[in-house]
Amino acid sequence: MGLNVIMMGPPGAGKGTQAGRFAQERGLLKISTGDILREAIKEKNPTALAAKARMDRGELVDDAMIISIVAERLGRPDARPGFVLDGFPRTVAQAQALDELMARRDSGPLIVVDVAVPEQELVRRLGSRRICRVCGTNAEAIAAACGKCGGELVQRTDDDQGVVRERLKVYQTATRPVLEYYRERPTFRVVNGAQSPERVAKELDTMIDDAASAMSGERAR
Ligand code: AP5
Repeated sequence: MGLNVIMMGPPGAGKGTQAGRFAQERGLLKISTGDILREAIKEKNPTALAAKARMDRGELVDDAMIISIVAERLGRPDARPGFVLDGFPRTVAQAQALDELMARRDSGPLIVVDVAVPEQELVRRLGSRRICRVCGTNAEAIAAACGKCGGELVQRTDDDQGVVRERLKVYQTATRPVLEYYRERPTFRVVNGAQSPERVAKELDTMIDDAASAMSGERAR
């Protein structure tokens, strides 16, 4: 059975950090809708370029476009062992579409982890984040160059203070209801994301393994 994880949480919670690490350690496909959109913008894909203005304002991109991106990725052979979703679903319509895709896959349970972090800390993290212009790796504002490839560090356009405020507002109105959509499921977990990345990783791994084994026990019964 595959291991399928959704990393939920507000902007700056550490979804991308934990999703990337977990996917790499477990040999799973990481699907980050934000990264896919940024990559497509770099490649001057016309649909992504049309979505850029919304991203730069901190608004969500159209549900239909995002759902078709995720459906296409989940259909690839490298998604078969399982996946980690980062930044999707972000609306109840996206969550419902994912349930429909999962019903067709029959590939193990969907484990949902909410990475919870207080707003003040989110604002601090996003304000001090820089990303590498070349490879996209996250860095602190104090770093001189990318620790991975030496590339130039820049601020993400949507990490501007005003845009961060809008992203947090959009999270409350559009994405919080998704937590309520999942909350009653036996595979829903909440991790305290306001700890060191190592500590978050440890707690998250335990939670995901517990949820997966509880579900496999259910299936065996
Ligand atoms: P997206 O790229 O998904 O942005 P986001 O959700 O706002 O998330 P971030 O990447 O800012 O934060 P994160 O939680 O991944 O944290 P990270 O690990 O990077 O989306 C961007 C835009 O694309 C959206 O606004 C929207 O327009 C569009 N979009 C994407 N998906 C969409 C969808 N499904 N539907 C519609 N539109 C969509 O960490 C943040 C910082 O904190 C880093 O500097 C990191 O090093 C640091 N950090 C991480 N963990 C810790 C820790 N434990 N302690 C201290 N610092 C930490």
